[in-house]
Amino acid sequence: MVQRDGTTAPPPLLEVRDLRKTFTSKGIFSSGPTVVAASEVSFQLVKTKAVALVGESGSGKSTIAKMLMRLETPDKGAILLDGEDVLTREPRGASLAYRRRVQMIFQDPFGSLNPVHDVAHHLIRPLLRHKRASRSEARQRAVELLESVDLEPARDFIDRHPFELSGGQRQRVAIARALAVEPDLLVADEPTSMLDVSIRLGVLNLLAGLKERGLAILLITHDLASARYLADRILVLFRGRVVEDGPSEVIVRSPAHPYTKALLSSIANIGDDSVTPKTDSSTAAQGCPFASRCADVFDACTVDPAPREYEGRAVRCHLYPETVG
Ligand SMILES: Nc1ncnc2c1ncn2[C@@H]1O[C@H](COP(=O)(O)OP(=O)(O)O)[C@@H](O)[C@H]1O
Ligand SMILES: [Mg+2]
Repeated sequence: MVQRDGTTAPPPLLEVRDLRKTFTSKGIFSSGPTVVAASEVSFQLVKTKAVALVGESGSGKSTIAKMLMRLETPDKGAILLDGEDVLTREPRGASLAYRRRVQMIFQDPFGSLNPVHDVAHHLIRPLLRHKRASRSEARQRAVELLESVDLEPARDFIDRHPFELSGGQRQRVAIARALAVEPDLLVADEPTSMLDVSIRLGVLNLLAGLKERGLAILLITHDLASARYLADRILVLFRGRVVEDGPSEVIVRSPAHPYTKALLSSIANIGDDSVTPKTDSSTAAQGCPFASRCADVFDACTVDPAPREYEGRAVRCHLYPETVG
């Protein structure tokens, strides 16, 4: 990217361009319907900023996270780290260097920690594997990591096993483990959704502090309130596609897409499968995929809308004039 003064701006830490991932369920004799889990997904992640992916259950959030973690291979699109296409450079999976720089924390901290090992083990292992500390330094470094996630005094926690910790403490250990390798990017897939409401804010505050200290964060959530709290930019996903994308304040204060408006007005319902009609994405091939649930549906909606610029955000909806040029 060439700037006005002729110098070249550094590329974003991580950029995804036009990612697509489909899944085809396999029957015994034939393959079943194809689900488009993610399509035309593009965004950039930079140091000290957070981007939130928001959408109901099944909208493709975890699939996008898994593609970033290189646990799923996109059907199409590019993942660029420091401007270099990692899918071409490392076609057989993520290198150790990539995995060090891009770390993930999961929804269920109990599931992501090994019940037979103590906290020290969970922290020392990545330190040694990624050569971030020598054997003699590792325990002291583990203590510092626990302090950095506010598990203090660290000696009260370091020898405990996961079952001897509360849910919030376990998630903090999982975060400390991700930080052990000094990553540049943290992908957090619903990091607070299994925690008691009373301790969610503490974990979000911890993530906010990490962002200020230099990390880029991709927050995945079905909760627009958490997204607004932590993220600088919000991408609203509906059936694998970004239907609205803009600065958090713009999206939350003046949502444009009818789906974003619905998310904001029914926060309690989001993520609840019982209120989410499970329609096969392939059946909505022609018109706007949201049309069957949209209160503002009109003639134009029989055609799938392209994204357009509207008052500081991009929105995929015929209610707004198409961007010219
Ligand atoms: N491994 C898989 N095999 C088949 N379908 C999948 C697989 N993973 C995800 N899907 C489907 O892709 C869609 C998006 O899923 P997911 O990314 O988990 O959504 P979210 O995290 O937003 O709840 C869903 O319809 C889901 O059933
Ligand atoms: Mg998910």
